[in-house]
Amino acid sequence: MNIKEYLAEKKAVIDAALDEILPAEDVKPQTIHKAMRYSVFAGGKRLRPILVMASAEAVGGKGNDVLPAACALEMIHSYSLIHDDLPAMDDDDYRRGMLTNHKVFGEAMAILAGDALLTHAFYVLSHCLKYFPAESVNQVVGEVSKAAGTFGMVGGQVVDIESEGKDISREELDYIHENKTAALFVASVRTGGILAGANSVQMDALTDYARHLGLAFQITDDILDITGDSGKLGKNTGSDTRKKKVTFPLLYGLEESRKMALDESRKAGEIVRTLGNRAKPLEEIVLYLVSRDF
Ligand code: IPE
Ligand code: IPE
Ligand code: MG
Ligand code: MG
Ligand code: MG
Repeated sequence: MNIKEYLAEKKAVIDAALDEILPAEDVKPQTIHKAMRYSVFAGGKRLRPILVMASAEAVGGKGNDVLPAACALEMIHSYSLIHDDLPAMDDDDYRRGMLTNHKVFGEAMAILAGDALLTHAFYVLSHCLKYFPAESVNQVVGEVSKAAGTFGMVGGQVVDIESEGKDISREELDYIHENKTAALFVASVRTGGILAGANSVQMDALTDYARHLGLAFQITDDILDITGDSGKLGKNTGSDTRKKKVTFPLLYGLEESRKMALDESRKAGEIVRTLGNRAKPLEEIVLYLVSRDF
């Protein structure tokens, strides 16, 4: 299996599904539908929806069956990026190789586009009832909403903002990374697992895998903010330094941070190998992500 081909194939399927799921640009109120589509289709690695699909496949399900749920996770992620870039938050001008949403549509519309993507995600999840048992869909809605909210992504973003310019402990930094980033990774793999009927051993493996992968991913994101190429990343580097963010490289330096990211990804790889051959894509995603320059 070639992981690059696997990811490209999945991305194409996800993009097509997102295009169907999102309201068309000519539907009233047009401005917000344009704004939602602008950020969703600006690019993006589609990592979270790919994790939903690959996790379903890893436990014997079909990736395409969980496509709507996968799109819901990508919409929540895209909303989080639009709001993360706002002047009141990280105040960034570029995302996914294009001007940020508020730069093009204004702050009010960017806030509303984020709100709309978040709510539309749950609208789409509610429609999964057509294909999956009510208990499974209910569990997914519960877990995804928790992971996106104050006990997950929003909680991590709160502490990220409150920690700017402060001297915080390793525990607090772990809290930020686990919540602002790893929580949505965990929700993604668990969504795939739940809908595909994973057993509790498989669910535990998927969960641990995603927590380590999410940490490795955010540590790498912090490193790339210093060493990366803004052209390849599609966003400006140096944003964390400018906003006095507390990051792994700030606390431990680049070398040690690289070691920590590798360590987390090694753990993720070891755990996911216990799921056997069907989990090969999940295993290869780890290596692909930790050595990325984009
Ligand atoms: C960026 O996520 C925000 C973080 C949690 C680090 P991605 O690097 O997955 O962004 P896209 O979706 O590919 O644009
Ligand atoms: C963002 O972390 C995590 C989110 C929940 C959006 P960052 O602020 O480091 O993400 P980038 O670097 O802007 O993509
Ligand atoms: Mg941020
Ligand atoms: Mg940011
Ligand atoms: Mg960052």
